[in-house]
Amino acid sequence: MVIICALGAASQDVFLSGKGISSQLDASSNEYVEEFKLGAKLNVEHVLFATGGGATNAAVTFSRQGLEASFIGRVGKDIAGHGVLSELDKEHVDTSKTIYDEVLGTQYSTILVTESGERTILVYRGAAQAHTAKEYEEIDFKSYGWLYVSSFGGAYEALDIIFDHAKKSGIKIAFNPGQAELDQPELLKGLLEDVEVLLLNKDEAALVVEGSSSEELAHHLLHYVPVAVVSDGPNGVVATDGKTIIEAGMYEDVPVIDRTGAGDAFGSGFVSQYAQGKSIKEAVVFGSANSTSVVTKFGAKEGILHQGTVLHDMPVKEREF
Ligand SMILES: Nc1ncnc2c1ncn2[C@@H]1O[C@H](COP(=O)(O)OP(=O)(O)OP(=O)(O)O)[C@@H](O)[C@H]1O
Ligand SMILES: [Mg+2]
Repeated sequence: MVIICALGAASQDVFLSGKGISSQLDASSNEYVEEFKLGAKLNVEHVLFATGGGATNAAVTFSRQGLEASFIGRVGKDIAGHGVLSELDKEHVDTSKTIYDEVLGTQYSTILVTESGERTILVYRGAAQAHTAKEYEEIDFKSYGWLYVSSFGGAYEALDIIFDHAKKSGIKIAFNPGQAELDQPELLKGLLEDVEVLLLNKDEAALVVEGSSSEELAHHLLHYVPVAVVSDGPNGVVATDGKTIIEAGMYEDVPVIDRTGAGDAFGSGFVSQYAQGKSIKEAVVFGSANSTSVVTKFGAKEGILHQGTVLHDMPVKEREF
């Protein structure tokens, strides 16, 4: 059985939606914005509490897919932290190595969801961005076969320790870095020699390597890692291991209710299959199905697929590299 640990953020998410929360095209930037008049009181029709944070979302994919899953990350000593951990317990994710912050609270996100399923997130990162190298020096990683590393709040000293541990023990790493890691691309590149699978969306990939198409970006990422995966929302995914290149479209044209967690579901879905020895094609199809299911539900975990879900065909092409 594959033993995998997801590292990164744990969060309490609150989703608000309703007519008061809508987007408009901003003429000066030509981008969609959600904006509120100062002093306004806007009615919200739906409130939903759910847990999130990339590492907990990934751990739930792994567990529901029959892997032995753990979570390591930081929470506060508060109700939100308790809520996240009890949800992980219910999902059979091992949380025994959770790090508690004595001062900072658990990450807390307020997610303003529009009718199209797009969203703006107000995020208090709290404990989730206070990783120190020392606390990771003390953790025993040896029992894991894989690490799935997601947003780490730019804590490169802690990441160095984790990646060193993994290298020494022959543990494979899948990496889906967060914005704070991507803000320092040179430090990021320094970590990539120990990474087996790198998962980025197209905009993120363009911060690391040159390229305009997903294919070109994936191709260039192979200078750093054996397996590169570049996703581009509803436009699909390119994945390559240098032997074969997979180009996939949309798994299903679904009504998007809330796109929160799409990237986590795709990345962890891909890794849940690849780590079990499936081909990168099978991994792309499962990641796509998992993320497509997640965007049809509020919350980042609700739609995560259970083991045994029958998948249908999707547009996917495979070529020799
Ligand atoms: N509108 C959509 N309809 C169907 N599937 C979608 C849609 N948006 C995203 N997905 C699925 O989710 C996957 C990941 O989405 P995306 O490339 O936007 O990741 P991301 O930018 O990392 O997301 P996140 O903001 O959650 O980190 C896509 O490859 C696709 O399979
Ligand atoms: Mg992402």
